[in-house]
Amino acid sequence: MAEIVLDNVSKQFADGTRVLRNTSFTIHDGEFFILVGPSGCGKSTLLNMIVGLDSVSAGEIRVDGRVINDLDPKNRNMAMVFQSYAIYPHMTVGENIGFPLRLAGLSKAEITRKVWDAAALLELTTLLERKPASLSGGQRQRVAMGRALVRNPVAFLLDEPLSNLDARLRVQMRAEIGRLQKRLGTTMIYVTHDQTEAMTLGDRVAVLNQGVVQQVGTPRELYQTPANLFVAGFIGSPGMNFVPARLEGKRLALPFGEAVLPDRLEKSRPGDGPVIAGFRPEAVSSAGQGHSHDLAFEARIDVVEWLGAELFVYFDIAWSEKWDLILPHLSAMPEKGTTMFVGRLDPSLKVSKGQTLRLQLKRQDIHLFDGRTGRNLAMMA
Ligand SMILES: Nc1ncnc2c1ncn2[C@@H]1O[C@H](COP(=O)(O)OP(=O)(O)OP(=O)(O)O)[C@@H](O)[C@H]1O
Ligand SMILES: [Mg+2]
Repeated sequence: MAEIVLDNVSKQFADGTRVLRNTSFTIHDGEFFILVGPSGCGKSTLLNMIVGLDSVSAGEIRVDGRVINDLDPKNRNMAMVFQSYAIYPHMTVGENIGFPLRLAGLSKAEITRKVWDAAALLELTTLLERKPASLSGGQRQRVAMGRALVRNPVAFLLDEPLSNLDARLRVQMRAEIGRLQKRLGTTMIYVTHDQTEAMTLGDRVAVLNQGVVQQVGTPRELYQTPANLFVAGFIGSPGMNFVPARLEGKRLALPFGEAVLPDRLEKSRPGDGPVIAGFRPEAVSSAGQGHSHDLAFEARIDVVEWLGAELFVYFDIAWSEKWDLILPHLSAMPEKGTTMFVGRLDPSLKVSKGQTLRLQLKRQDIHLFDGRTGRNLAMMA
């Protein structure tokens, strides 16, 4: 069991590449902690530093209060489970699980006992005599977990363990890993670039971009109060829509209409002027289903995606030139000038491509971001 603290940790490789800057957060004992971010943002590097495969350039990593920066990886007692499970094909499941114990010179009786304990926990008891070739992908992963488990590690570290599985197996394994972690109660740090995995598995999630931690929080916090435009755009699928906007007192003008400022923004309301407004697909509905304060507008539907339980429509909004003029004041605006938006509508609605629909945006679900820094204005009170 372990609490892991990263205190101002930075990493610069020998060739000068700076990969991580002043990373600070605490992973609580027993927590399922996710590191998520786009490719190349430094996730694996961070994991490698915690487990001891990469050195720390600056800052401290502490486990239960003890600095481990220079501790040999084998003395950290952390178990890394890689993407390729690396279980030995010529050994049985039982031999694979017991392998690290044999290396450590434990007695046969002790090895048998520990292997049985691990197998029981992982529901592998009936498979102990099998060879890996006759196991499913999920079972193989459990064997790899078992081999890590018998060492009784203080933490499990997993680097994209599901990325080479097909979509269906990935969903199944995701649920299995989540259940397993809860059963073990061992601290787990899990790296992924997939925001769905992060949202579904994490007790808490750290969002990383270009070596800088953007936000650490529960999936709910990240979704409902993203700290900045990056988190807002990265978490959620399809992603948040962004538009230029202008604040005038309690009025919020958008390219397709006007709304009263959302209540939760009243306390932190910045001065009048240009801001970036964001709204998630589910903040959009077909007109007539919302409140009178909501913002109704017409939109031409370009793409319709009907998925049975969900209906996504991609639409265009024509906006006047005056909105193009404020774009230069919004340097943080993602994909400047885009006018393609996505809404999530009631799937019983009949919508077709090319149709003009009357839509409605829930004013209480509008997010506002600083035009230059991209920070969420609701968090700046
Ligand atoms: N030994 C090294 N020397 C120099 N640069 C490196 C080294 N190892 C990694 N990098 C660089 O550090 C950055 C972060 O790499 P890292 O592997 O941590 O990314 P990642 O977030 O795990 O990406 P992915 O999702 O693609 O696995 C990348 O730009 C990579 O090219
Ligand atoms: Mg990686």
